[in-house]
Amino acid sequence: MPRRLFSADTGGPIYANFGDRINATGVAPGDWLLVVLDDENPIFIRHRTNAQIQAVRSEPVAGLLDPARDEDRAPDAAWIAVVGICTHAGCKVVAGLGPYDGWACFCHGSVFDASGRVRGGPAQRNLPVVKLTRVAPSIFVTE
Ligand code: FES
Repeated sequence: MPRRLFSADTGGPIYANFGDRINATGVAPGDWLLVVLDDENPIFIRHRTNAQIQAVRSEPVAGLLDPARDEDRAPDAAWIAVVGICTHAGCKVVAGLGPYDGWACFCHGSVFDASGRVRGGPAQRNLPVVKLTRVAPSIFVTE
């Protein structure tokens, strides 16, 4: 069962700045971290399962609302970082929900796949990706 991981000391999201080292120890495939960057941007750092990777990479890009290759969005395949703000009207999205095993927005029902690509509106644009560098067991996200 995927789970959202919290920082042990606060019980809430992890707060960091772009470029900070983020400890990803214990983030198993299917899990994710919610990191608030620069005090404002909720970022999901997601460790994807092989099944999730296969599902998003086998989807024909031409049929997507906002066509984008997962290989370009997540060069590391197993890891992806996206901004957790719905591209429709700015609500916070929820991870691990929806028919595409990605993210869902409860405000008006948009759904996103495990690449953060919009698969059902009213949103028309994908969740923005954030550049991620992994130096196990740490992850760095940069603008
Ligand atoms: S803000 Fe997400 S669907 Fe409208």
